[in-house]
Amino acid sequence: MYFIDYIRRKKVMKKIGVLTSGGDSPGMNACIRAVVRTAAYYNIQTIGFIRGYEGLIDNNYIELNRSSVSGIIQRGGTILKTARSDRFKTIEGLQKAAQTILQHQLDGLVIIGGDGSFKGAIELSKYTDVKIVGCPGTIDNDLIGTDFTIGYDTAINTVVDAVDKLRDTAESHDRIFVVEVMGRDAGLIALRSAIASGAEAILVPEIKNDLDVLIQKVQAWRKDKSSKIIIVAEGDESGGAYKVAEIIKQHQPQHDVRVTILGHIQRGGNPTCMERVNASIMGYHAVKALLDNKHLVMIGIVDKKPTYTPFEKATKHIQELHPDLLQMLEILSC
Ligand code: F6P
Repeated sequence: MYFIDYIRRKKVMKKIGVLTSGGDSPGMNACIRAVVRTAAYYNIQTIGFIRGYEGLIDNNYIELNRSSVSGIIQRGGTILKTARSDRFKTIEGLQKAAQTILQHQLDGLVIIGGDGSFKGAIELSKYTDVKIVGCPGTIDNDLIGTDFTIGYDTAINTVVDAVDKLRDTAESHDRIFVVEVMGRDAGLIALRSAIASGAEAILVPEIKNDLDVLIQKVQAWRKDKSSKIIIVAEGDESGGAYKVAEIIKQHQPQHDVRVTILGHIQRGGNPTCMERVNASIMGYHAVKALLDNKHLVMIGIVDKKPTYTPFEKATKHIQELHPDLLQMLEILSC
């Protein structure tokens, strides 16, 4: 009985849409490919909206099939392009988007994006009956309900590669380098890349007054340590890498301090192996979730298993930094 019902529900899904929204992240293409090919396997047609919700509002789309997603798994960025849509925050924009969904007679929609994109999807659901599921696409890894977001692994590898290079020059000149990494509200990029690159300290938004602690640390550093790397998350209350360097100079003028802001370089590049696999798992399960009538949930991976977290919960992105990892960094960086 259950099996017959399962098959009946599967038949309902004939056509779906997919879009990437918010900041791009490496692995989005692998996810799109997985969505399109899984849908094709179940005889579901897929269309891709261009520039995220902007494409949905303007009915700007392309047909996607097995061939159109060939050769993209290894590419960074997103073949569908992306945008942060202000129009989608208006009632008019939401109504237009719902109209596009109706016009195409879509049965499902897959949103690949971050918390802002999922908040938008919750609003959209007030104007349409289409089933909506999401895959977490952001380098920040700041969503509840998944161990890794699409883009995070590649971004931290990019940071580690850059810091390794900075270490060479820092070591040669006995300098302090203050390196600013992305993470508007979260210090996860900073923490993990600091551990992997052997950085001496981090400043992250989750920890208050960490700048005062840093100054004490700079004073207490071993004299035989010639280079020092401080990784600052852009969202930290200190005000960014230049500010941190200035304050260190004020307190410890004997130090030679340099600043490097890694910026958008962290958002580009070929996705790592782990990224491609995780993004594929998420895209595959997004289509399976639609077939199972799931709605307004984000597909995540927790303890290597696919999970479904309601958008409402996923967007409350106050991920605590693992205290044990923080303590480990502290101990290992001395
Ligand atoms: O949310 C991902 C992210 O890369 C943040 O870490 C960063 O603050 C932001 O996007 C930058 O956005 P934009 O590319 O729109 O300037």
